[in-house]
Amino acid sequence: MATVTEKMVGEYVPGLAGVPATRSNISYVDGQTGLLEYRGISIEQLAEHSSFLETTYLLVFGHLPTHTELKTFTEEVQSHRQVKFRIRDMIKSFPESGHPMDALQSCVAALGMFYPLGTQKVTDESYIREATVRLLAKLPTMVAMFHRMRHGDDPILPRDDLDHSANFLYMLTGKEPSPEAARVFDVCLILHAEHTVNASTFCSLVTASTLADPYTVITAAIGTLSGPLHGGANEEVVAMLRKIGSPEKARSFLEKRLMKKEKIMGLGHRVYKIKDPRATVLQTLAMQLFEKYGHSDLYDVALAIEEHAQELLGHKEVYPNVDFYSGIVYDKMGIVEDLFAPVFAISRVAGWLAHWREQLGENRIFRPTQIYTGQREMPYVSLDERE
Ligand code: COA
Repeated sequence: MATVTEKMVGEYVPGLAGVPATRSNISYVDGQTGLLEYRGISIEQLAEHSSFLETTYLLVFGHLPTHTELKTFTEEVQSHRQVKFRIRDMIKSFPESGHPMDALQSCVAALGMFYPLGTQKVTDESYIREATVRLLAKLPTMVAMFHRMRHGDDPILPRDDLDHSANFLYMLTGKEPSPEAARVFDVCLILHAEHTVNASTFCSLVTASTLADPYTVITAAIGTLSGPLHGGANEEVVAMLRKIGSPEKARSFLEKRLMKKEKIMGLGHRVYKIKDPRATVLQTLAMQLFEKYGHSDLYDVALAIEEHAQELLGHKEVYPNVDFYSGIVYDKMGIVEDLFAPVFAISRVAGWLAHWREQLGENRIFRPTQIYTGQREMPYVSLDERE
């Protein structure tokens, strides 16, 4: 029997680096020049002029909404923010020490049971819209709910008079955030909303291609995002900056880590070969927060790491990515480190949903091949005869 070889199926590319997995018109990234566009609009413009919900509409439905479209969409999202009391009961039974990303993943999986497809088809535009609105609206509520309940606090009901970001921060802390803090957070959500075929988005495409329901699609994507090489990186960046402690210690920390061939969290990117444009916008946001709430020592350590890394890793085209500065911004806003990844999820859900919808428009189930490297035609050895 013939074995499938690289010669027959093409060269194996670890991590599928550079291999096109789909056709998409959702976002465009140029890693050489440091450019990121959503539906053709640069993230710098969106960060300056748009809101997270408007950007989500753009990503999912393909155009910037009119006044009426945005108003209707915003009202739909607001009206779906609450979760069933059974979800609340379920969260109450989660271990307090559990990671909030695991809690979020479990909650989203459970949502699917409350909103079954029924007579609709997963490809129906009305169903896609309904599920998009539900997921966008409920993820922040569930993240905030778990966070409060793990500390023995009662969950806080969403407030209809607050926008998406202000409402999340309010549900988390019980305090209405300042307009500046809410705006900075909203821009963070815009920056993290979409980024072509990254690992979690690829996972959502694969799951979508089986025609699984969107709650399953987003559950799978959340699990993929949770890894330290993906959405878990900003949590580790802040832990690393705290461990380094001062800018003077940055160089020796870097040298020691690199000598041991360890990765520096928040640096490097599969696509960007220069500094991630989102990291630059995040630095501006950090400055805005520092002006209002005071400076962050972590930022000074981060700047020192960036400076020394340029010298030590620049030749490998390794520069700060989006996670390098986002944790510092969240930290300044009082968001605890293990919530960074769930915050990433309540933003990236926009991109996952956009890709889910796009995948359904021209679907074929994913079924790549492999290069088999194992043995062939082996005899079965009975248990007694094995050594
Ligand atoms: N620290 C130190 N060296 C790094 C590095 C980092 N963060 N990222 C990449 N490199 C080095 C690699 O060791 C490799 O060196 P080598 O050629 O001597 O072996 C070279 O740069 C190429 O990197 P590679 O591992 O091929 O990049 P990748 O595209 O497979 O991985 C990441 C991309 C993001 C997974 C990787 O840069 C990383 O692990 N970064 C830290 C985690 C992180 O911040 N993730 C969030 C991404 S948004």
